[in-house]
Amino acid sequence: MSKSGKGGGELRLPQHIAIIMDGNGRWAKRRLLPRSAGHRSGAKTFQNIARYANQIGIRYMTVYAFSTENWKRPQEEIDNLMNLLRDYLKDAKNFQAENIQMQFIGDLTVLPADMQALIRRDEALSADATGMHLNIAVNYGGRDEIVQAVRRLAAEVKAGALEPSDIDQETLSARLYTAGQPDPDLIIRPSGEYRLSNYLIWQSAYAEFWFSDILWPDFKPKHLMQAIEAFGGRDRRFGGV
Ligand code: IPE
Ligand code: IPE
Ligand code: MG
Repeated sequence: MSKSGKGGGELRLPQHIAIIMDGNGRWAKRRLLPRSAGHRSGAKTFQNIARYANQIGIRYMTVYAFSTENWKRPQEEIDNLMNLLRDYLKDAKNFQAENIQMQFIGDLTVLPADMQALIRRDEALSADATGMHLNIAVNYGGRDEIVQAVRRLAAEVKAGALEPSDIDQETLSARLYTAGQPDPDLIIRPSGEYRLSNYLIWQSAYAEFWFSDILWPDFKPKHLMQAIEAFGGRDRRFGGV
């Protein structure tokens, strides 16, 4: 646990931080660069921030890399994003050295076969890591995730393994991609947008939000620390008094 250094108080760390890595395109545009340059820079920021979060003792981090809606983008940009992810997947030592446990969440069945194989390999290689648990959301959509979970519940009811009256918040949570994980307690969105964009819509029911105008490629560890410090000052009531 690190200290805040302010007033000597113990810094209250969120258990699970979720980040919407947004603003790559605008970052590139401001520099008169192609959007691909923004994504490349954003990918570096991702590695830097994940490393830092692990070092300061964050237990869970979930990053939004590609949404179910991002398929609407030009094919060239989609290819560029997939290639960046492929490069990252190939370089397994990135996270092995960090002792980070990786998991990919989203509907991965539509990804190219080589990427699916790399994902399985990397998840297996990092399965015993004891550091931060890192979820990378690819072809992820919160509504899609809930639909998939409901389908599984329906199949279990049909098979006679579950009664409709057995279905409660826990049984549904246990069929989401994030099964077994604590809900995010802090959600960070840079780039000046104030929306969830279909991210973790079930899990965010009582999350704290931190927004900033910083574009993702400019996001630094100090910004993560600002968000964590803001979180530490929040009064979370969960509906109580
Ligand atoms: C986030 O940056 C990366 C992905 C959505 C994959 P954007 O590409 O959305 O950047 P802006 O929002 O256009 O600046
Ligand atoms: C959300 O950003 C998805 C990711 C960061 C991967 P978008 O840029 O796609 O979201 P909108 O379109 O601004 O809502
Ligand atoms: Mg965007």
